[in-house]
Amino acid sequence: MSDWTECLNFGISVAKQAAEMIMSSLHHPKDVKLKSSAADLVTETDQRVEKFLIMTIRRRFPQHRFIGEESIGAGEHLELTDSPTWIIDPIDGTVNFVHRFPFVAVSIAFTVNKRTEFGIVYSCVDNKLFCAQRGQGAFLNGVPLHASGQEDVSRCVVVTEIGAERDDEALTTVTTNICRLLKLPVHGVRALGTAAVDMCQVASGAADVYYHIGMHCWDIAASALIVQEAGGIVMDTDGAEFDMMSRRVLAASSSAVASRIAQVIRTFPCRRDDEDPCVSVVQNGL
Ligand code: IPD
Ligand code: CA
Repeated sequence: MSDWTECLNFGISVAKQAAEMIMSSLHHPKDVKLKSSAADLVTETDQRVEKFLIMTIRRRFPQHRFIGEESIGAGEHLELTDSPTWIIDPIDGTVNFVHRFPFVAVSIAFTVNKRTEFGIVYSCVDNKLFCAQRGQGAFLNGVPLHASGQEDVSRCVVVTEIGAERDDEALTTVTTNICRLLKLPVHGVRALGTAAVDMCQVASGAADVYYHIGMHCWDIAASALIVQEAGGIVMDTDGAEFDMMSRRVLAASSSAVASRIAQVIRTFPCRRDDEDPCVSVVQNGL
């Protein structure tokens, strides 16, 4: 079994430098551009931080591959192979960053043979470093993390996100899901505006459930391992095995809660992250 600790330590050191770059830009005016929708934003800082991370990691590990949100946004092909791969979201919570809403994170996952070996989520404003290495537990600033273990759905705090999709089917599904959960009932529904930090709330036991339809692999690859290593459950929103390319995730404190939530929520169609755009055009008969 390989030990990826050297890569993990390097990842933590570059994540900290990236967080400094983000914090030094937080209070400055930003040039904001739109991507897939009016709620999917990118700034010069997202692009600069991603370039810094990829350049710095590549210099140290020249054989490794990269999947970065802004590189894919700029047209790079997304393919997860068996090679060691860094999956990077330079700023998770770009809308928060633009508005200075205080939850903004750097998210870095590292996969080998398509399996995540470690995950790093650095929540910059509150200086919280969440990380996990496969088989070695999850930590927040060096202190072990444990999911709540809650088994009664009616006692759960659920975190979810509206997401960036704004078409009628997506909005109806998202709002109907929230109504159905509130009627179960659950204790409360929350949203921090960053999928990575949302998921880490389940890892830390502050929340019992997180689900999301429409996010991307770079938003949740790192935090999915952090939840699992904290003793939580991660699956698809339909109850199937977790697939980081599917654009769907359900993280929970226990199998009982995960299964119950999967029964209640509905999904809407999203093109997979690793699907060739031409395939969906053909499938849709266009
Ligand atoms: C977004 C955040 C947000 C979620 C969106 C994501 P970004 O990532 O994680 O919480 O609702 O679906 O795309 O664009 O800020 O990296
Ligand atoms: Ca981002």
